[in-house]
Amino acid sequence: NHYVAIMAGGVGSRFWPMSKSSYPKQFLDILNTGRTLIQSTYDRFADFIPEENIYVVTSREYMEIVKQQLPNLPAENILGEPERKNTAACVAYISFKLKKMNPKANLIVAPSDHLIGDLDLFEETCLKALDYTESQEAFVTLGIQPNHPNTGYGYIQKSLESKQEGIFQVKRFTEKPDRETAKKFLKSGDYFWNSGIFIWRAEEIVHAFWEHVKHIYDLFEEALPALNTPEEDAAIEKAYAECRSISIDYAVMEKAENVFVIPSYFQWNDLGTWNSAWENFSKDESLNASNSKSTILVDSKGCLVHSNEDKLMVIGGLEDLIVVNTPEALLICKKENEQQIKEYVARVKEVK
Ligand code: GDD
Ligand code: MG
Repeated sequence: NHYVAIMAGGVGSRFWPMSKSSYPKQFLDILNTGRTLIQSTYDRFADFIPEENIYVVTSREYMEIVKQQLPNLPAENILGEPERKNTAACVAYISFKLKKMNPKANLIVAPSDHLIGDLDLFEETCLKALDYTESQEAFVTLGIQPNHPNTGYGYIQKSLESKQEGIFQVKRFTEKPDRETAKKFLKSGDYFWNSGIFIWRAEEIVHAFWEHVKHIYDLFEEALPALNTPEEDAAIEKAYAECRSISIDYAVMEKAENVFVIPSYFQWNDLGTWNSAWENFSKDESLNASNSKSTILVDSKGCLVHSNEDKLMVIGGLEDLIVVNTPEALLICKKENEQQIKEYVARVKEVK
């Protein structure tokens, strides 16, 4: 009864221009490992989830890329979304579908674009969570020990007593707090970051939609008779057209009771921004990270240079810059402005 749903419909705009909406970062090999992020995600689950139970939910425009990159994935396990409606719709779609196929479906919902290490420990942690949700009415998230007040994550406050060794009831789930709140959480010591990896039974999460986001529940309940039939695509188009755009974190996790956290100790990096990638690149003695053999850095410190072209580049006397060079675009910005790349991309769309 174990399944995994890999969410792969994001556009990764903070990684522009390497990541672009026609070919976003989950389909790139950002860290030069020889496998793209979604391929690594698939590999790490294929070690312990039966291959026929691995699903990918993505935008319809990326279905071909998914097929190319994951040739072992059965075509019917790629669910195409007609519109981008964020992760709540994505989770509703796969959960209603799986529940109909197998009322006991117990699943891991996972992002497609993270870096995860210590794979044995990762597997052990996931299996522990699946084992728990198999028999409990519970929503489990894997919690990561925070080390700075990042405002791009969900924060999970755990209660003191554990239900079962290593599993704690969650007192409060706060999605993307402001900087002051994040600092307070960090200081208090009883908060974890939400890794974005969730474990629950399909039936349970469907029930939570009914309880907390009735609007989304109703739309997918209406589509239900068509799921797993030739009518599925049309019914899903109708549901998505009316569905609001909201993440699963705001829609369900902040509201649900019975949320549990498993403090997790495998290596985790969400590769959300160039800086988080920079942490994983090898660096020279001036802390410059460059993937480009044709770039010369002179008297420069802490720069991140990414180029997939042979053009010779010289960077002189500069500090803490992000330089990304692709055939279509060149980005140069301060590392501290990396969260603004999203806004730059919006401007690019205005110019083009
Ligand atoms: N299918 C589908 N459809 N996938 C989507 C969509 C969509 O509309 N939108 C985003 N995704 C995918 C992304 O590709 C990514 O793999 C995953 O869902 C999470 O979306 P993000 O947009 O990256 O979320 P986030 O990073 O802002 O926040 C989430 O992850 C953090 C950890 O990385 C939240 O769960 C936070 O609470 C968490 O801390
Ligand atoms: Mg993310």
